[in-house]
Amino acid sequence: MYRFFDYYHNEVHLSFEDHPFSTNPKHVWVICRYENKWLLTKHSDRGYEFPGGKVEANETAVAAAIREVKEETGGIVETINYIGQYKVAGKERTIVKNIYYAIISELIKQEGYFETYGPILLDEIPEGVQKDRRYSFIMKDEVLQRSLMEIKKRFL
Ligand code: GTP
Repeated sequence: MYRFFDYYHNEVHLSFEDHPFSTNPKHVWVICRYENKWLLTKHSDRGYEFPGGKVEANETAVAAAIREVKEETGGIVETINYIGQYKVAGKERTIVKNIYYAIISELIKQEGYFETYGPILLDEIPEGVQKDRRYSFIMKDEVLQRSLMEIKKRFL
C-alpha cells in the first residue's frame, strides 16, 4: 500500500492488491498499449491523460473501462487486466478508481470524442510529465509511475 498526495494535495492511497478499497468502484482508469506505443487521449480541459471515467448505473467497472477507451480514443480493447486500485480523498468526497492495463487491437476514428480531442500515441511517457503543462493532473502523482512499474513487471 502506498500513500502520498496528488497534484491538488489530496491524500491518495494506492494498492496493487485485489480491490482493497471497494469491490464496486465508481471510477476507472485505463493504461492503454497500441502497436508498441502508449495510447492516451487529449482531454479538453485537463490535457493528455490515459482514458477513463465514471462507471454508469448497471454497468460493471470493466465494461466502463472498455467503453471509456472507445469514447475517448476510438480504441477497441482486445485484452484488459485489472492491475490495482486507488482512493483519493477529495475536498467534497472520496473516490475509488480501478486501474486497468489494456491492449488495443484497433483505432477507429470516431465522429466525435466524448470530452476529448481523440487519440494521442507516445513511444515513451516523458520524464518531465509532472512539470509538463500539456499533461493532465491525473498523470502527475505516483499513481502513474507505480502503475507503469507494475505493468512492466507483469506484462512487458
Ligand atoms: P462530476 O460529476 O463530473 O463533477 O464528477 P465528481 O466530482 O463526482 O467526480 P470527479 O471525477 O470529478 O472526481 C472528484 C474529484 O476527485 C476531482 O475533483 C479530483 O480532484 C479527484 N480525482 C478524480 N479522478 C482522479 C484521479 O485520477 N487522480 C487524482 N489524483 N484525483 C482524481
